[in-house]
Amino acid sequence: MSRKPSGPPTRYGWNTPVTAPGPDGSSLLRRVREVIAEPLAYLEEVWAAHGDVIQFPIPKPATYLVSSPSGARDVLVNLNRDMGKRTVQYTSLSLVTGEGLLTADTQAWKPRRRMLQPAFHHDMVSLVSGHVTTALAHLDQKWAALTVDGPALVDIDQEMMSLALEITGKTLFGVDLSGEAQELTDATIDALHGVIDKAQSLLPIPMFVPTPKHLRMKRAIKRLNRAVDAIVDLRRQDLIHPDAPIRDMLDVLLDPDVDTPLTQQQVRDEIATFIVAGHETVASALTWSWHLLGAYPAEARALQADPSRAARVFDEALRLFPPAWVITRRVLQDVEIEGHVIPKNAMVIVSPWLVHRHPDVWSDPLTFQPDRFADGAPQLGYIPFGAGPRLCIGRDMARLEATQIVAHLSQAWNIEPVHSGEVVIEASVTLRPASGLVMRISPRG
Ligand code: HEM
Repeated sequence: MSRKPSGPPTRYGWNTPVTAPGPDGSSLLRRVREVIAEPLAYLEEVWAAHGDVIQFPIPKPATYLVSSPSGARDVLVNLNRDMGKRTVQYTSLSLVTGEGLLTADTQAWKPRRRMLQPAFHHDMVSLVSGHVTTALAHLDQKWAALTVDGPALVDIDQEMMSLALEITGKTLFGVDLSGEAQELTDATIDALHGVIDKAQSLLPIPMFVPTPKHLRMKRAIKRLNRAVDAIVDLRRQDLIHPDAPIRDMLDVLLDPDVDTPLTQQQVRDEIATFIVAGHETVASALTWSWHLLGAYPAEARALQADPSRAARVFDEALRLFPPAWVITRRVLQDVEIEGHVIPKNAMVIVSPWLVHRHPDVWSDPLTFQPDRFADGAPQLGYIPFGAGPRLCIGRDMARLEATQIVAHLSQAWNIEPVHSGEVVIEASVTLRPASGLVMRISPRG
């Protein structure tokens, strides 16, 4: 598979043609552990070395990385009809979420999106605001107790994870995550981590082989299914009045008045999808918002003086630390992107981490400048929520929730860095600080 000294190869085994520049096979094989341990550094390196459209030396499926803002738009928007979701990323995720909205391929996806869209309409989104207020009141109480004797240290990553989880629970089930709901979320998160573990293992062992990791993941999925059944059964007994207002996502999923009500399996898949897609993503972006504000004290002061800056702070944190740091697609028929033919069946990777650092759109891309978003986000080169028809259905909800949290906490608390220097990023389901992020909190006088 390595390049011959006489010139670049024209095929990578199995008749996979080479249609774009990229790293050679032997260097990728030699560095596979490093690539798994530090994927962001590797992506940056190959981008710098080979440009905006790269082909990896992988024969099946042919695998490309597209990083120009216009190329990313081609993949997600213009060529959307030629792009499916049967990729390694989404197939592994579907071990947990089944055929939920995030992983469903086009045929199954279209009617489901139409059905679920109302759940994310304005009224529902504003319902979330009340849950955020309650969850923030709980956090204020907890932090007040911690700081009675002066400033306290907290792992802001853990704090944001629990805050987001409480809000997710209320939004989905209208309840605190206690009892069945707590069990359901724990099982989903366990199963998800099993999937990530599996994706990162060097030997792809099929699921039917009973390794300890596979058994643990299967047990978590069983627990998830049992917990969903318990919650759904309870709610069905609740005899929802046909005219009763929608209280939470579960009401929407169980709505009997739609043309084709969801089956129990479909309800389960969507619940798991919402937990997976809506919890850690928001928490991760909040954690990095506090990290960036800590590193740029003038921005923190500006936010304290004017909490309406919270939205642009959050948008800029999503630019520098996009929780969904890779988005993948399966090419359904030959397409051309930035002058390169990308063949049918290839996998295309778009990394918001790279696109958000592209000098064509972003000046001084590595610095934190919330005012870039003073007039909203640019059309090209900003894709923290994806783009096109598969745009994140929870985008408005996530932005509303996060903006409210950043505005409130920056008014009520000083949240300051403890360690200077680089924070090691773990790129897994989302981007998280590898060893948590300890910050000092004290009430604002
Ligand atoms: C900061 C928070 C969030 C980020 C960064 C984020 C990011 C994304 C991205 C990049 C996609 C597109 C994936 C692709 O094109 O392959 C997506 C889709 C999706 N997201 Fe989010 N998301 C966030 C919050 C949420 C929330 C709060 C929910 C639900 C409660 C949610 C539910 C979904 C679903 C169901 C999809 C699939 C939509 C479809 O294909 O029709 N997300 N998200």
